[in-house]
Amino acid sequence: MKKQMRPTTVLAPVSAVLVSCGDEKASDIVTIAWAGTVNSEPPMLSISVRRSRYSYELICKTGEFVVNLCDLSQLEILDGCGVVSGRDVDKFAKFALTRQKCTHVQAPAIEQCPLSIECVVRKTVELETHVMFIAEIVGLTVREEWISGEKLQIPDGSLMAYVQNRYVETGKTVGTYGFTAKRKN
Ligand SMILES: Cc1cc2nc3c(=O)[nH]c(=O)nc-3n(C[C@H](O)[C@H](O)[C@H](O)COP(=O)(O)O)c2cc1C
Repeated sequence: MKKQMRPTTVLAPVSAVLVSCGDEKASDIVTIAWAGTVNSEPPMLSISVRRSRYSYELICKTGEFVVNLCDLSQLEILDGCGVVSGRDVDKFAKFALTRQKCTHVQAPAIEQCPLSIECVVRKTVELETHVMFIAEIVGLTVREEWISGEKLQIPDGSLMAYVQNRYVETGKTVGTYGFTAKRKN
């Protein structure tokens, strides 16, 4: 049996990521759980940010940001960047993170993160509580150990998922895209 509940934001699991933004003069890092892939050609993703965030201000100013994935060892940083504002602290300094120069955007990437996605905002969708930035992925830097040949190969269990308000470990591969269509019987 299932019961009716009040409609709310329950989609899970989702990625929780560190979004770095700004330029050489002012930069920030914000934890974002409301991020998603939205287009393949060109590759695009979205993030939803409240207008009150310092990061929102910087993204509006530059029209750019970098989505950085965290591995399990970076859990404290992932949470920490989501509970303080860049208006009050320099999160790069607070969490001993290094600003990495990007190739395609002026926003800094986070050197310690295994994967950084450089994004340029193409559309801004004004919603009630959040603003959704739809952005084109213009650059990608990945930890060498996560590249096999020319392909991205993220090791099982190295990323976390976010389920409601919990950070959850990911486990082992239990299937691959389209495996049900490929089997013989
Ligand atoms: C796990 C987690 C997920 C979050 N997801 C979002 C989000 O999707 N959008 C958002 O606007 N704020 C989100 N936040 C809150 C911001 O990260 C937080 O308010 C942060 O301190 C804002 O920093 P800033 O003022 O430097 O931008 C999240 C926080 C945490 C801990």
